[in-house]
Amino acid sequence: MPASKSSATGADGAERGFSTRAVHAGERAPRPDFTPTATPIYSATAFVYDDTDTLDAVFGNERPGYVYTRYANPTTTAVEAAIASLEGTEDAVAFASGMAAVHAAMLLDARAGDRIVAAPDVYGATYAILTRLLPTLGIETVFVDLLDLDAVGVALKASRPALVYAETISNPLLRVADLGAVTALAHRYGSRVAVDNTFATPWLVTPAAFGVDSVIHSTTKYLGGHGDVTGGAIATTAARAAELREINKLIGSVAGPFESWLTLRGLKTLPLRLKQQSDSAREVAAWLAGDTRVSRVNYPGLAHLGGAEAMFNRPERGGMISFDIRDAGRDDVFRFFEALHLVVPATTLGDVYSLVLYPAISSHRAVPPEERARIGISDGLVRLSVGIEDVADIIADLDGALTAASKHALSVTA
Ligand SMILES: Cc1ncc(COP(=O)(O)O)c(C=O)c1O
Repeated sequence: MPASKSSATGADGAERGFSTRAVHAGERAPRPDFTPTATPIYSATAFVYDDTDTLDAVFGNERPGYVYTRYANPTTTAVEAAIASLEGTEDAVAFASGMAAVHAAMLLDARAGDRIVAAPDVYGATYAILTRLLPTLGIETVFVDLLDLDAVGVALKASRPALVYAETISNPLLRVADLGAVTALAHRYGSRVAVDNTFATPWLVTPAAFGVDSVIHSTTKYLGGHGDVTGGAIATTAARAAELREINKLIGSVAGPFESWLTLRGLKTLPLRLKQQSDSAREVAAWLAGDTRVSRVNYPGLAHLGGAEAMFNRPERGGMISFDIRDAGRDDVFRFFEALHLVVPATTLGDVYSLVLYPAISSHRAVPPEERARIGISDGLVRLSVGIEDVADIIADLDGALTAASKHALSVTA
């Protein structure tokens, strides 16, 4: 297409046609001398410099800067700095999803021929990475109940793992191991420790404070907090973060700038949301525990956690609960879900909305039924993520749905 004649000129004073101006006009304005109060979304794929020597120095990591968004991006750097600050680590690396972060954490510390020691009650996809993907790379996993420190010691001595992997509050049974003690033991045997801190968040627990090497997040959950972003992160030392960036540069599972921006925005209200969610969850858990239609309630705030209490930065115990509907099977749980009017049956957690999930068909579908039963994930188990709605409305909705689903009539004891 011939360029149209125009009087408009470029930086070199040469005339530019309409198509050229359509592409370039307004772009690459000189850097401003003002500072936006909130980090902008730098959606650019690439970044330019006034001279090629500077570009070369940035490429060579000899001076800070950005050249290509898969390597680093200013919006993503901002959310990484925020996550590192909250976790109390030197640095953090953002990923495209929580699973990308889980995978990278394993690749960072385990090589072919290595072993991992892990808790069996971890998120289903994490369990699938450990049991299906890593064995194809020559990495085997030994599962051990991390609440049994004697068993952990035996497993570490026998298998000398490169990595110990755990969740601060486990998904979906909400079990809390004394990860300070586990980390000290693991380090004695020369193992690194990676902890998925998604359920607890750094508001409740900062695993790096008791020596954990990689602190993993699905930022999709509490850190983003609004059910509108998918992402992950690993908080760690500067040296390990540099290695993770090299891994991510090659694998390409980087956080997008818009996702980074949403997560940065979500983080600002994390303490407010989690305080409300923790207070409401404590009330909902107590109500469920007193209801005869429910046979078991898992909530870290209902039980004394022993040595694990020391991990918590404050008295709150988070917004996650799981419970067994008494004598329920799949059909009863389906009826329960369909009778809910407020609580959303959706495959996620940590949102402002209250959410329920049926682990047997979703988060733990990848775990074989006999293994689910062995771990304690029954066919009547429901996971509840308490949102920021009025707690009376949440309880009323659960009450109505339990009435619709339960084989047992409500009989309130004492
Ligand atoms: C504890 C935990 N870790 C990791 C993940 C994976 O996160 P994502 O879905 O962002 O990949 C999840 C997802 O539910 C999770 O619950």
